[in-house]
Amino acid sequence: AKKKSILDLMRMKKEGEQVAWITAYDFPTASFAEQAGMDMILVGDSLGMVVLGYKGTIPVTMEDCISHCQAVRRGAPNTWIIGDMPFGSYQVNDQQAVENAVRFLKEADVDCIKLEGGERVKSRIRAITDAGIPVMGHIGLTPQSSGQLGGFKAQGRHVNSARALIKDALEVQEAGAFSLLVEAVPPEVTAFIAKKLDIPVYSIGAGACDGQLLISGDMLGKFQAFTPKFVKKYANVAEIEVNAFKEYINEVKNGQFPTDDHVYHVLESMDEFEKL
Ligand code: KIV
Ligand code: NA
Repeated sequence: AKKKSILDLMRMKKEGEQVAWITAYDFPTASFAEQAGMDMILVGDSLGMVVLGYKGTIPVTMEDCISHCQAVRRGAPNTWIIGDMPFGSYQVNDQQAVENAVRFLKEADVDCIKLEGGERVKSRIRAITDAGIPVMGHIGLTPQSSGQLGGFKAQGRHVNSARALIKDALEVQEAGAFSLLVEAVPPEVTAFIAKKLDIPVYSIGAGACDGQLLISGDMLGKFQAFTPKFVKKYANVAEIEVNAFKEYINEVKNGQFPTDDHVYHVLESMDEFEKL
């Protein structure tokens, strides 16, 4: 399939065609996603938890993100890829944000970047957009500021916080973002935002809107630390891997592996080899 563009994503919103996307962090997952026909791929800083084993996303560096974006690009050369700006790469000022966003495009060939926050990152979104780089906003449960939120908690469940979210959504659009991701927000609030905004609004754990995102580690059953309520598990890869490893261990211990099928036999008469 042809790689999506901003125009395709706008058209899909207009025509009510849902966008299906996941996170990926490595070459094989990216390749499988592209083979399956995924509309786009996020190289999330969730890589810190899903593939590096950190408790949160705070320790993730620009180098981590760039390196994983490069692997994903190699695996999915024809898919719209979103590079996720890690904590500390855009918090200081607009200049730092633009410099790091530029690195994502130049070094990892992503199609756009995503950063967290509404009103308070308005000038960052504007500056990166002005540099010619498409920006996806991200509001609601924003893991990089989960300390301020009191943990990984759903947002916008009360009228005042819902009102603040709607304001954030409008600010993100006004700042020039081409799309907005809403995380762990009541579906009623998300639907309101999606209707109010001209740009596509995507959900992770936030109900129906213009498209859905899931974390590949969650939906494939590879991430075992915890499973958010909004996750639907489409596979249990952890079980498949553990069982395969157990079977291999058993067969090695029992001498059932390797067999004659898995070795390279000599190409000359054994007599010659016996002189060794
Ligand atoms: O890093 C990530 O995977 C994300 C999603 C949780 C939205 O930003
Ligand atoms: Na993220």
